Amino acid sequence: MLAAETELKNAEKVKNFLIQKGLLETNHLAVKELGLIYFPINKKSKVPGAKVVDTKFSFPKKKLVPKVENLLKDKLSNKEIRLIPRSQEIVGKIMILEVPEELKSKERVIAEAYLQINEHVETVVSKEQFHEGEYRLRKVKFLAGKKTKETIHYENGVKIRLDLEKTYFSARSGNERLRIARLVKPGEEVLVMFSGAAPYPLVIAKNSKAKVVYGVEMNPLSHQYALENVKLNNLDNRVAIFEGDVRTIVPKIKKTFDRIVMPLPKTGQQFLSLALKKIKIGGIIHYYSFLSEEEMEQEAKIVRDICKEEGNQIRIVKKVRCGQFSPRIFRICFDIKVLK
Ligand SMILES: C[S@@+](CC[C@H](N)C(=O)[O-])C[C@H]1O[C@@H](n2cnc3c(N)ncnc32)[C@H](O)[C@@H]1O
Repeated sequence: MLAAETELKNAEKVKNFLIQKGLLETNHLAVKELGLIYFPINKKSKVPGAKVVDTKFSFPKKKLVPKVENLLKDKLSNKEIRLIPRSQEIVGKIMILEVPEELKSKERVIAEAYLQINEHVETVVSKEQFHEGEYRLRKVKFLAGKKTKETIHYENGVKIRLDLEKTYFSARSGNERLRIARLVKPGEEVLVMFSGAAPYPLVIAKNSKAKVVYGVEMNPLSHQYALENVKLNNLDNRVAIFEGDVRTIVPKIKKTFDRIVMPLPKTGQQFLSLALKKIKIGGIIHYYSFLSEEEMEQEAKIVRDICKEEGNQIRIVKKVRCGQFSPRIFRICFDIKVLK
């Protein structure tokens, strides 16, 4: 079979060239051997940085995954197919669909199609409601596959067991958790307020050399999952989880922290004074809020005013957009350095 042979270090460049010129044979996979990579091509041609060869071996066939719209073309009208939700959250082995009102009567057929094309998904549910109440819980409706709302989610090297309705969890915050973990310096003592099923404490402990990570959560069911997850990841020696309201638990912890994470974007403001009492001078507070672009400056002012009232001097080192709440409202993290 015809192939462009090149060293691994040139792979990206050669592949891009082949794609651009329409030379890459897309039904087969490339083969790596002894520091070289072979891209299957569809005709003899000059390829910069590569030698064109006729290989003796054959290339593995690409598995063709059917598209959801192809599976549904006999069951839904063209208009309905255009409305199918394209981006879904996958938590462990559960896919959460956001089905528009117009497609509600077809949601089970759509769920079956998604189940068929995603080999790692065992259950499909639909989102019935946004996160609500003090515990930030949501309802989901079972649609297809294995009848369960509990799963184990793998993220950033940790396993997180959870039930979608009993504890808050967002797979979409995985990158943000890793961002925080990567900022942690060796030996740091970290506090995660509002720790839920413990994704932040676990990801931080696993991906940094923090001395210890504390978590505080008041939903008893989240707390149970958190305890289980700490064990599941063998992190008992560096992660400690406490159950209760941060307002009563945090003042009782007889230490101050190098870093405090506050993943409660709806009402975080109410807890900033508490965090300031427990942060070391020079420490960082990661403060989350749901904001539009236009509200950022106003929120920064409120943060500065609260810190001033508490007698602290701070610098907002960074404002990071780390999620989306609605088309114009983002999940923003202010990284706040406490100078005094
Ligand atoms: C947005 S969720 C974040 C959970 C977790 N950190 C995560 O990222 O998956 C906020 C969590 O804070 C908890 N919570 C709300 N108010 C609290 C309080 N005063 N003290 C302790 N936990 C609280 C809720 O029960 C909920 O689990």
